[in-house]
Order: sequence, then C-alpha cells, then structure tokens
Amino acid sequence: MKNLKIEKDYLKKIKLFQEYNKYYYDKSDPKISDSKFDQLKKEIIDLENKYKFLNSKNSPSKTVGFTPSKNFKKVKHKTQMLSLSNAFNEEDLNNFEKKIRNFLSLSKDFELEYSAEPKIDGISASLIYKNGKFTMGLSRGDGKEGEDITENLKTIEDIPKIITAKNFPVEIDIRGEIFIQNSDFSKIKTKFANPRNAASGSLRQKDPKATSKIPLKFIAYTYGFTKNLDIKTQSIFLKNLKDWGFKTNEYNKIIKGIENLIINHNKLEKKRNLIDFEIDGIVYKINDFELQKRLGYVTNAPRWAIAHKFSANSSISKIISIEIQIGRTGALTPVAKIEPVNIGGVTVSNATLHNEDEIKRKDIRIGDTVTVERAGDVIPHVVSVDLTKRKMNSKKFIFPKKCPCGFETTKEFNEVTKKFDAVRRCPDRGFDCDAIAKERLKHFVSKEALNIDGFGKKIVENFWDLKLIKYPQDIFNLDFKKIKNLDGWGDLSVANLKFAIDSKRKISLEKFIYSLGIRHIGQENAKLLAIHIKTDDNFFKLLNTIDNNELRNIDGIGYTQIKSIKNFFSNKSNQKILLELKKILKIKDATQTNKMGILKNKTFIITGKLENMSRAEAKSIIEQNSGKIISNVNKKLDYLIIGEKPTTKKINLAKELNIKILSQKEWLKMLN
Ligand code: IVH
Repeated sequence: MKNLKIEKDYLKKIKLFQEYNKYYYDKSDPKISDSKFDQLKKEIIDLENKYKFLNSKNSPSKTVGFTPSKNFKKVKHKTQMLSLSNAFNEEDLNNFEKKIRNFLSLSKDFELEYSAEPKIDGISASLIYKNGKFTMGLSRGDGKEGEDITENLKTIEDIPKIITAKNFPVEIDIRGEIFIQNSDFSKIKTKFANPRNAASGSLRQKDPKATSKIPLKFIAYTYGFTKNLDIKTQSIFLKNLKDWGFKTNEYNKIIKGIENLIINHNKLEKKRNLIDFEIDGIVYKINDFELQKRLGYVTNAPRWAIAHKFSANSSISKIISIEIQIGRTGALTPVAKIEPVNIGGVTVSNATLHNEDEIKRKDIRIGDTVTVERAGDVIPHVVSVDLTKRKMNSKKFIFPKKCPCGFETTKEFNEVTKKFDAVRRCPDRGFDCDAIAKERLKHFVSKEALNIDGFGKKIVENFWDLKLIKYPQDIFNLDFKKIKNLDGWGDLSVANLKFAIDSKRKISLEKFIYSLGIRHIGQENAKLLAIHIKTDDNFFKLLNTIDNNELRNIDGIGYTQIKSIKNFFSNKSNQKILLELKKILKIKDATQTNKMGILKNKTFIITGKLENMSRAEAKSIIEQNSGKIISNVNKKLDYLIIGEKPTTKKINLAKELNIKILSQKEWLKMLN
C-alpha cells in the first residue's frame, strides 16, 4: 500500500515536470522559475535513488529536452549525409590506411595527406544555398531525409544568410555542426544532460524564438550536393569556407603519416578540456578530392574518412545485478545494472559485460565495485573490478546455460579460427524464443529496415505484451480499434500509426532482405544479394532451391552467409512469415545505381594484377557503369580483363568459349 502511494506521488511529480518541461522548451516563457524547475527534477531523482522500483520512462533522469519531431516537414537530402566509422587506436588507423592503399593500389612511397579536423559533438545540419542565398536548412534525420528546420537555423548568427563572393557555387549544400559552447551551456546546465542535448533540444523548437534564446554556434566542414564547385582539396575547401563567411575549426590541420596523426591526437586530447566546446575525437579525411571520389563509400560511411575517438571517460560504480539480454541472433549478453553514475555528462545505469568468457576472465560478481567506461555513443562497459572492495561472502557469477525460453544454449564452433565462440546463443532460428522474436520485430520496424515512423522498440514491447503482434506480418493486420482504447493512444495517434504502416507496404528488395534479420546479412550483404537476385520471386524461390543455389557466385557472400541463409529458410516459422509477407508487401525489383551505364548487361572477370588499381576499385567502376562481375568463366561471360600474371587456365577457357579478352588499357578505353 505504502509503495503504491509513493509511486502515485512520483508519477504526479513526473507529470508536472513534463508539463513545465513542455512549456520551457515549446514556448518562449517558462511557467516557473529555473530553481523551482530544478527542485522538482531533483525531487524525482531523489525518489528514484531511494526507491529502486520507481522507473518511469518519462523521468527526467531518462529524458532530455523535449522533441517535437512531428512538427517539421521532411525533405530528402539531394546528396546523402554520411556517417563515419570509428578508430580507437594506432592499429585501427593502420588498417584504415592499408585499405585505402590497397583500394587505390598505391605504391609504398606515395604519402597520403589528411585533413585532420576535431570532431565536434553536436548536431549536423545541411544548409542549402541557391545563388548565394540561404534558402533551406535540414537536420540530418536518417541521412537520406532530414527535417526542414530553416527558420530555427536562421536565428544562428554564424550562418551567413547571403554570400556574394564570386567563386561561391550557384548551388551548394554547406554541411557542418551546430553546437553550444561549454561556457554558454553552464548557464542552462540544469535543463539538459549535456551540451549536445541542449543544442539538439534548442534546434528543434517549434518556435524559432525559443531557438534564438539559446546561443547556438555553427562550424562548417563539408558539402553535399553542389553545382559549379571547382576545388581540388579539402584544405582549399576549408579555406574557401572561411572566405565565404563561415566559421571553420581553428584546430584543423593538414597531416601526413599515421605517426603524425597520433602525435596530433595526443596533443589535442590533452588540450580537450581547455577548448570551449565538446570534441569527442578527430576526423581524418583524405585531402585530395580526386582520391576521395575514387574511394567512394560503403553503405553510409565513406572509405576516405574515419573518426579517431578520444579515450573514454570512466567512473566508479557498483554492480546491483547482472541481467542476461537475448539479442536478435540469439546471443546471450550479460548486462550489469549499476548504481547510476555520471560519466562525461551522461547518467549511466547499465554496462555491458560482453559475454560469458569475459565475466570469467575478469571474475566479475554481483556487488563488486567496478570501473565503467564510456566512449562516445558506444555502449558503456565494465573495465575492471576493485578486488580490495569485494565482500568476503561474495560468490562467483554463474552464467545461465539455458535461455529463458527453455532452450539449452550453445557455443558455436568457428570453422575459421578452430575455436569455440565466446558468445553463448539460444539455438532458436524462428520465433519460438520470445526474446528473439521480440528483437526480430524491433529490427523489422527499425530505421534501416522498414522504417515505420513512430513504431519504436517501446511500442513493439507494448504490443507484444498485449499479444497484438507476434510475427512481422501481424504489424499489417493490427487491431486499431483495440489500440485506440489503450493508454496514451487516441484517434489521431492511431491514424498516424496506420498511415505510417500502410506507407511501408511498398519496399525495395534490398530493404526487405535486410528487414528479415537473417544473421550475417547486414545492409551491405542484403544489397549484394538483392542486386544479384533481382526480383522477389527469385528470392522466394530460394525457399525450395536453397541447396543448389548460385549464391556462391556473389562476390562478398561466403560460406558463413550462405549457411546462415540456409538455416533461416529451413525454419518453419520463417517459411510461414515469408509466405505471409509475400502476400502483404509489394517488393520492388532491385535496380542498379546506374541502369543505363555504358557497360549495361555486360559481365566481366578480372585475372591478374591491374596497374594502379585494386580489384575492389575495378569492380566498383564496372558496377558504377552498370556492368557486373561474375566469378566463373562460362558462356555467360562477356569480357575477361587481364592484368599482370593472369591465370592461364582462365585465359584458355575464355579462348575456347570465344570470350573477348581485354587488356586493362582496352577496358579503360571502353569506358572513355
Ligand atoms: S564529415 C564524410 N567532418 O560526425 C561524412 N563530420 O559520424 C561525415 N562531425 O554526422 C561528415 N565534425 O555530425 C565531418 N569535421 C567533421 C566533423 C564531422 C563532427 C560529425 C557529423 C557527422 C558525424 C559522423
């Protein structure tokens, strides 16, 4: 009874907080004074600390700012806004450069030049200029489509509204980071968890007047779509940005050699606290635009850039309990629930323990005092245990051998490393394990998959608990009448949800394959499969012919992926899901990026080493021009390209089959 009263009181405070919060962020004048607002927030958090059962998702300890995301019009970016892969150490950097050298087939003595730019931890934005006039500004969104936040961006002083410089392109998207300086943040600290949230919250205000109240800054660093930009390097581009009236980062540098990148990284990391804005690493970009163009990008990150993160922030905390989470692919991941600690401005109450072996190796136990580390947006993890603080009666943690669904878990044998996996898995491949099923549903609706607006993880959990969904197809047969009567739902939100779901009935083959959540089939592999398989009919045919399929011919799809696809198709519930989805969805045939390219319908094989070019680059050139690389010399082959030291067997067979043989020069001539 007592607990009920405490909870009621707690929820009441949260409701009040939400109301004030909305007022503060949504309207230009807050209803109560800052200190009263802070007091209320503190009361809620104190209650949570005292009574561990209080855990509302709307608590100020979990939410930051107010995000009226539905209010902005969505607009497609003319050129996608990419993200970056991360490097944490010298080895990662060496690998990054090695891949570039291989791709471009560079000689050892060719020195690569990098533009090293501090990575500001803010919010990226794309500013569209036409004839020198700032016409529209978009948030990043999912990289392909952003929100029109023009009016809010116009309030930022650092953003030039009119540019008259002669060499300013007729049309260009200038991209950069919106952020708040630490000195300004300290004045509004109590309302946001960190400067990044403050910038984000402020930028997405409904009323631009509210945005103008928080001092936002803008630093420019790249461009998206452009017409008439004639510049050869990133460093010249950065210089031009300055001439055009944009702010650029004063710590930007041009650097050659990994060892010098590291020296610069160490220096800047030491200086980090003296700089008046948050930086979480350094972005390295190949300086030469021509090389950038040749390198291109994979899925959504360029091959020519990487973010070298600063070492993590860490704090000391105590493990309250260890929970086992089951992932989409059945992996059992132990997660430590820890006493909430602030690590670099973010409250952390969960930390991953990775897997069973890791717990054993570090002998991590419930009740232990531990060091928890957090780097950027990576999940916090437990680094070490302070054994001096361990209680006499503490017991070793026993990792469960059974999945909560009842299945015995297993550790797989890795054919390549000849070792057993460190990860324990639930063997279910379909929807028999509830935990896996829920994760697969979350994956199905996620941003990169079906991308159903407003259908987040929480809703999946909620609808699952209410038995409204169990399989992906159920999402298209929801009982909206029932949903309308649920807490927090009404006519409008139900109509929105229905609309969001219906608009996803048409989907590309690539996204469809990815959305199924087949293990080892991520976005890149789904794309490879889609391009090769072409139509959904061909894909569904795999249900019957998976054993003698020709998936082996796809460059990039190997033994592991094929085995995983076979496993997937052999499962009864997966088969049923596929047949149901086939009825519901309209799956668009896969199209190549350039259907009308000069090498249209032509197939190629390369044998031997090419001059100044890697296989990967040659393949990407062929594909960009609508050609296709196949793996075996047979009648379907149109051209065999030969480099240095080719395989004689391939040449002989090609001659026998009357296949045209090209030297590298002849092939490049074909492309002009
Ligand atoms: S370049 C090439 N340059 O980092 C594509 N990004 O994870 C990436 N960022 O969304 C953009 N400083 O918000 C670039 N000097 C810089 C950057 C930078 C910060 C952010 C940006 C982007 C994210 C990529």
